[in-house]
Amino acid sequence: MQDNNIIIFDTTLRDGEQSPGASMNTEEKIQIALQLEKLGVDVIEAGFAAASPGDADAIARISEQVKNSTVCSLSRALDGDIKAAGLAIAKANKRRIHTFIATSPIHMEYKLKMTPQKVIEKAVHAVTYAKTFCDDVEFSCEDAGRSDISFLKEILDAVVNAGATTLNIPDTVGYRMPSEMGATIKELHDFIGERAILSVHNHNDLGLATASSIACIQNGARQVECTINGLGERAGNAALEEIVMILKTRRDIFGAYDTNINIKEIYPTSRLVSSITGIEAQPNKAIVGKNAFAHESGIHQDGVLKNAQTYEIMSASDIGLDKNSIVLGKHSGRHAFKDKLEALGFNLKDDEINRAFDRFKILADSKKEIFDDDIRALVSAEIIKVEEVYKLITLQLSDCNPGGLPSAAVTIRHNGEDITEAAIGNGTMDAIFKVIDRVCGAKGKLKEYKVDSVTQGKDALAKVIVKVVFDESKPAIMGHGLSVDTMLATARAYIGALNSYVSMRDGLRDVNKKLI
Ligand code: KIV
Ligand code: ZN
Repeated sequence: MQDNNIIIFDTTLRDGEQSPGASMNTEEKIQIALQLEKLGVDVIEAGFAAASPGDADAIARISEQVKNSTVCSLSRALDGDIKAAGLAIAKANKRRIHTFIATSPIHMEYKLKMTPQKVIEKAVHAVTYAKTFCDDVEFSCEDAGRSDISFLKEILDAVVNAGATTLNIPDTVGYRMPSEMGATIKELHDFIGERAILSVHNHNDLGLATASSIACIQNGARQVECTINGLGERAGNAALEEIVMILKTRRDIFGAYDTNINIKEIYPTSRLVSSITGIEAQPNKAIVGKNAFAHESGIHQDGVLKNAQTYEIMSASDIGLDKNSIVLGKHSGRHAFKDKLEALGFNLKDDEINRAFDRFKILADSKKEIFDDDIRALVSAEIIKVEEVYKLITLQLSDCNPGGLPSAAVTIRHNGEDITEAAIGNGTMDAIFKVIDRVCGAKGKLKEYKVDSVTQGKDALAKVIVKVVFDESKPAIMGHGLSVDTMLATARAYIGALNSYVSMRDGLRDVNKKLI
């Protein structure tokens, strides 16, 4: 008899990373994985091992560090993918391979060019092979939302007989209504019974991902796949925080269901993911948006002051949003700083804490009050870094007088050697990118540039986020830079993106062997 514990399967590091511009480097992925573990996620889909050596390396490093959550790698139904996944998760305390193949007529005919019988054969072979690496094997019918239910039953029966322990039913293109997804899950649940756990994976193309996930739970799904802040391909996936808070807030309906999520960690996790990916949740996003607990109108403010429940169905503190959080300043000590880092969801080693504390002290000299977002920006831009294959030592810019030639000179350390170069550009920023490309032998194409002041005030830090394509066949890579000087922050962000690109391409362990 299945219990009513809902397994939370987080795919922020895999499907979430497929959000345009959300690529993360290994160090960033490790930080997020450790925070997901603290949040109480049951299964962390840490990536797609066969995608690149960098992805495989990140999954392997996460597998070594995460102890309580199951670590999972995605793989197509191909031997090479499955082997890469099996090797990447080999050191995990609890491990899973998640293999998938498409089952809808349109995918089988046009994408796979396979008959349905061939697809079943491939699926059974994939599950059988995955079982040679671990017992816990999940099988997904990609585009199940547009697949024929009798074919779904046939393939699911075959993969369960081959040893699949979780069967995932994705609405890959977010097409189905919640009532339709619920009915599909009910029929499949009646068919599969207790032989495997049924899972759902809903995309948000019509804004229905969370509602569909809830309908699926009500009809027998015992695992939901979701992401922090609803990140994911196109319009994203079902948002973890929404599903969990629906189950918690509506105990009158969902009292029978439980998750292992520690809801106090929801807000810190959301902010950590935003600061690392550079993708902020929309202000009106349910649960974690900036305005989710803000009351603007006088009538609402008055009501909330008299009794918070007049306009609040949950409280900000439930999800770990502490409106009275301590603001640090130049007299704050190392201990308070360390506690703050932990509360914000960072999991740093001693030398990283020391470096962060040094940077914090420098910042506190120029800025009176240091807010949580300052610390998030500082750590995500300057501490969670991959190895600095290229390190910016100096940056000098020419005056931008009207009619003058904007130029930039840099010294960059590479392999122990300091290289100095200068370049002229169409503007100062262009000159900076050109000179860095010249020294590093790169050809970056800037796809996105964003500068934000981290908090308010004239002394606010500038946080620059760049997204750069270094290889046309690969997605854009993000870099963060932080400084009171915007151009210096820009140079740091660009070099950061370049270092991440090298580490993702080659894997961290090989980073010094194979340079551009
Ligand atoms: O959306 C989807 O179908 C997926 C599968 C690989 C599970 O992400
Ligand atoms: Zn998906």
